[in-house]
Amino acid sequence: MEKLKLGVLVSGTGTNLQAILEAIKAGTLNAEVRVVISNKAEALGLERARLAGIPAVAISHRDYASREAFDVALVAELRRKQVDWVVLAGFMRIVTNVLLDAFTDRVVNIHPALLPAFPGVQAQRQAIQYGVKVTGCTVHFVEPGVDSGPIIAQQSVEVLPADDEASLSRRLLAVEHRLLVEVLQQVALGKVHLHRGENGRRRVNVELS
Ligand code: GRF
Repeated sequence: MEKLKLGVLVSGTGTNLQAILEAIKAGTLNAEVRVVISNKAEALGLERARLAGIPAVAISHRDYASREAFDVALVAELRRKQVDWVVLAGFMRIVTNVLLDAFTDRVVNIHPALLPAFPGVQAQRQAIQYGVKVTGCTVHFVEPGVDSGPIIAQQSVEVLPADDEASLSRRLLAVEHRLLVEVLQQVALGKVHLHRGENGRRRVNVELS
């Protein structure tokens, strides 16, 4: 089966990117990362890509007058590298229809909460502050908006009485890494299907082990 050609967008440390790279190396993810793009030149995620011999490209959103203009530059780079699917892995920018129309139903995001709870930044802090006993992470298709779009997979994580933002984030990340890789492997196998039903209802069929 053909490898899934991924473009991974990062803004920060890139541990989800690293999980993808390691799964590819281990043979548990039938994919190749064609390019890693960051809006921040100093992102550790770019360094991880370089170390793995993968094209690492910094495109600063500050160089563009609008979100759309920035996305035009992203799309050009992703097309140049012949990417099929786009993974937002800690990408701290809101994407527009410019990107979403170029990769229809092929843009996914990982979020450290059980959406629709706690969208936006600092989801882990929001969970601690609210006092929930269970949180988790979500992999979803991206649509315009903040952390919105049809949910592909979720995994719960218990919030322990002694947890603070840092300890919860650490445990969440370990689960994120597994879930994201599992979802991408199902995508690679052609097993992730987005159905559009009546009343605009969308449902994703996917089987995870
Ligand atoms: C993760 O918690 C992800 O869910 C969120 O941003 C964080 C990125 O972490 N969107 P990393 O850069 O992959 O280490």
